[in-house]
Amino acid sequence: MVRCLRVPLEDGESVRNMLRQNGVLDLSHQIGREEGHLLIPIVGTSSGLGYDELDIELSPIPRKETDYRKLLDLPQDLLESLPSSFDVIGDVAILKLEETLIAHAPQIADALMATNQRLRSVALDRGVKGEMRVRDLEPLRGSHDLSSVHTEYGVSMEVDPSLAYFNPRLSRERKRIADLVSDGEVIADMFAGVGPFPLVICKHSSPSHVFAIDLNPQAVAMMRRNILRNRLQDRISAIEGDSKESVRKLPDLDRVIMNLPHMSEEFLFYALYKLRPGGVVHLYKILERDDLVPFQERVLSIAATSGRVVNIEGVQELKTYSPTMSVYCFDLRC
Ligand SMILES: C[S@@+](CC[C@H](N)C(=O)[O-])C[C@H]1O[C@@H](n2cnc3c(N)ncnc32)[C@H](O)[C@@H]1O
Repeated sequence: MVRCLRVPLEDGESVRNMLRQNGVLDLSHQIGREEGHLLIPIVGTSSGLGYDELDIELSPIPRKETDYRKLLDLPQDLLESLPSSFDVIGDVAILKLEETLIAHAPQIADALMATNQRLRSVALDRGVKGEMRVRDLEPLRGSHDLSSVHTEYGVSMEVDPSLAYFNPRLSRERKRIADLVSDGEVIADMFAGVGPFPLVICKHSSPSHVFAIDLNPQAVAMMRRNILRNRLQDRISAIEGDSKESVRKLPDLDRVIMNLPHMSEEFLFYALYKLRPGGVVHLYKILERDDLVPFQERVLSIAATSGRVVNIEGVQELKTYSPTMSVYCFDLRC
């Protein structure tokens, strides 16, 4: 039985709003009807509004499950190793699973689709591969076309994660860098992918120009469309090529972004060559947590061979990469 208010139809809307505002509307049951009246369920015993109150049977509102794990019928040890979250790029979910769960991937994808209305596809991530750092993705459910539009800090980007690298978990880092940029800076992103750093920077700060380089022709094609989509064609130039070569042809730089975390330091020499005194490099690197100090020594020695003195102004630990490794950003000032 549910306690209800018997409210004339014409008062129904206003009473319902009042009950909701006062936190006494029972949201777990449907509203009933009876000749010219609504039967509005309430929590507690009395609303104090002066309408008739009665106890009746009302149908419960079915609650939609939002935790995909609750829909899966798997042995307990497998349930415990299911990831609690997963990356979503636009309307595509990227599923990373432990080896023991791979055989159940289609079932897991069904559960994700059932609990997330906005998903159009679910794909299994078999790891980032090759020089262009593209994910090996196996479409599991929904459309096999994995291209969609992803939004981050007011920037909308076309991303196909099966053709170009993109990591939605770096959004806060991109905004952090955008907030550091001063008016009029000349910036290079040496590994720009589909352009998220340049786009977020130009959306939230006022550099005079950002040069965005990438080796992957498909990433550069998407980046060009993203620049137009966000009407930033006067402030961002997309360049297809090897950044070791391309960066040489640029004007002197105030800031360089180097997000190639498995080997970015191999390109540091070329970045420093173009950096103005006082300029900044953001160098991303995957490291064993114990290797932080030796890596910083290595950075200082690369700078010395380039004839530059750099100061490590900050080290940010951005995310865990493995039980012993993390992704770091080193902020270096020349
Ligand atoms: C880790 S991804 C970063 C992409 C982008 N910055 C982002 O945050 O989404 C590294 C990118 O570097 C590009 N890349 C690898 N080697 C390169 C090189 N020698 N010159 C230019 N780009 C390169 C890859 O194609 C890939 O898009």
